[in-house]
Amino acid sequence: MESSQIVSNIFFAYTIIISISSINCIDNNNKKLVTKQSALFVFGDSVFDAGNNNYIDTRSSVRSNYWPYGQTTFKYPTGRVSDGRLIPDFIAEYAWLPLIPPNLQPYNGNNQFTYGVNFASGGAGALVETFSGLVISLRTQLNNFKKVETMLRSKLGDAEGKRVISRAVYLFHIGLNDIQYPFSINSSVLQSISDEKYVDYVVGNMTDVFKEVYNLGGRKFGILNTGPYDCAPASLILDQTKIGSCFQPVTKLIDMHNKKLLNSLRWLKHELSGFKYALHDYHTSLSERINNPSKYGFKEGKKACCGSGPFRGTSTCGGRGIPSQSYDLCENVTEYLFFDAFHLTEKANQQIAELIWSGPINITGPYNLKALFELN
Ligand SMILES: *[C@@H]1O[C@H](CO)[C@@H](O)[C@H](O)[C@H]1NC(C)=O
Ligand SMILES: *[C@@H]1O[C@H](CO)[C@@H](O)[C@H](O)[C@H]1NC(C)=O
Ligand SMILES: *[C@@H]1O[C@H](CO)[C@@H](O)[C@H](O)[C@H]1NC(C)=O
Ligand SMILES: *[C@@H]1O[C@H](CO)[C@@H](O)[C@H](O)[C@H]1NC(C)=O
Repeated sequence: MESSQIVSNIFFAYTIIISISSINCIDNNNKKLVTKQSALFVFGDSVFDAGNNNYIDTRSSVRSNYWPYGQTTFKYPTGRVSDGRLIPDFIAEYAWLPLIPPNLQPYNGNNQFTYGVNFASGGAGALVETFSGLVISLRTQLNNFKKVETMLRSKLGDAEGKRVISRAVYLFHIGLNDIQYPFSINSSVLQSISDEKYVDYVVGNMTDVFKEVYNLGGRKFGILNTGPYDCAPASLILDQTKIGSCFQPVTKLIDMHNKKLLNSLRWLKHELSGFKYALHDYHTSLSERINNPSKYGFKEGKKACCGSGPFRGTSTCGGRGIPSQSYDLCENVTEYLFFDAFHLTEKANQQIAELIWSGPINITGPYNLKALFELN
């Protein structure tokens, strides 16, 4: 606790120095500033959303800009669905980048987006139908990236803009909400179409977006497969007759999804010259922690820190933004794998981020993210 606090303070100090020095030199030589590092562009859902949903017209159920979210590191609710930092925050730190800002966050500096941008939106899916109207779908995130790409080329010049785009790393966590959606919101989705066809749509739409980023010049992709969220605290209470068991209907779709995603990435690598990827086996890394929490420094791998009911699996953390609504909050968040019914604690995010960054090939491959960042 103590030492991670110090590390995070150092990190924030570093971020401030970077932003001050970039303001100083950007006017003279902004090209020099961006030649050294690979930028980080982030796409996805609540696992990666650093606050975009704060700025869209939506419901508090897909937002978390209220206490106790953000209690650990930022000391205020930034919109991240965790007590502290998310995976992309740690990845940015390991890559010596400042925190990557949400695309929609009003910005008043000079180096806007040259280190990257976060487009992720809590609740988003690869399918436009998933939480339609409440979230920024992957398709819209891609359109937002296109605007940034155009802006970078006009600001930095065509050649330099293209270099930033081709050196950058594109990090994705998406697909989980599509898989959950038929079970949580609209059960008629899977009545009109087979499970297999549905998963094909999800992976097909993800693949289309990877291809479009590639066509815009992107070459380095970091992708998480879908974790065992059929066993998240919220899922353990879905079947009232089997409280405490993983939710089987979702298990099947997740397994199918992960197989098809791997095939799609292998196909893209074969088809698209220079396409490189780091696939993190999030399913394995998170399963290991759920099943053996003490091996990874957690006391509790199944019950959430914040929420209510069995396993604190009912999503009431923070009273959903309404101060008078009650919920339970654990005393010591570092003992927990899950912060709320569906999302990991900062400590867990850090462990996963380390595996994505420098993990051995049996957990992140064929490249790890560190290797992708170092490539020219
Ligand atoms: C639920 O899904 C069905 C089939 O995809 C669709 O026709 C319907 O409009 C959806 N309903 C809602 C409320 O989104
Ligand atoms: C993308 O999803 C839509 C449904 O939202 C589906 O009709 C379409 O076929 C999917 N695209 C691919 C390439 O699978
Ligand atoms: C919180 O839990 C961690 C991990 O189990 C432990 O090291 C630490 O001492 C605890 N802190 C407090 C204040 O109890
Ligand atoms: C991956 O390999 C490491 C050794 O490099 C080993 O400790 C670990 O258990 C392996 N993980 C999996 C998921 O096979």
